[in-house]
Amino acid sequence: MPPELLGLAMFRPQQAAELLREYPGELALAWAGGRPVGVLGYRRDGPTATILHIAVEPAWRRRGVGRQLVSWLAKRVGTVVAETDSSAVDFYRRCGFSVEPAGERGGTPRYAARRPATGRPAARG
Ligand SMILES: CC(C)(COP(=O)(O)OP(=O)(O)OC[C@H]1O[C@@H](n2cnc3c(N)ncnc32)[C@H](O)[C@@H]1OP(=O)(O)O)[C@@H](O)C(=O)NCCC(=O)NCCS
Repeated sequence: MPPELLGLAMFRPQQAAELLREYPGELALAWAGGRPVGVLGYRRDGPTATILHIAVEPAWRRRGVGRQLVSWLAKRVGTVVAETDSSAVDFYRRCGFSVEPAGERGGTPRYAARRPATGRPAARG
């Protein structure tokens, strides 16, 4: 999903239903004051979840919303992985991920982030 569509999903909920039908994974929303302020898109592959997208409304950044979304997912699966660019590398590190270079796309360096399972049984459903 392109970033502008993530914005649409967050700020124009009436159009989110169409996006949800086409989304190649599952979406979780973080809510504050009765409206969505963060979105997490992910795909589950057995005990591993791959983060496809994560975005927090600018006014709500650096207030723990992104970490809560990642923690929510980590509690439900085992390992969480993500591919990201340099802008979010430190966010992933602060959320307990190890980060390795993963080549580049379109001249932009990419990074593979990985947060191992905690060892607790993963919840199902
Ligand atoms: C990346 C993003 C999701 C982080 O969400 P957030 O709600 O601001 O993150 P949190 O407040 O939960 O931050 C968790 C930790 O990461 C740190 N952090 C967050 N964004 C950071 C950044 N850009 N650079 C460095 N550290 C960052 C926070 O300071 C916090 O650290 P702490 O351990 O000291 O508390 C948000 O900045 C965003 O939507 N960015 C635009 C979209 C994007 O880049 N998505 C990722 C690639 S798909």
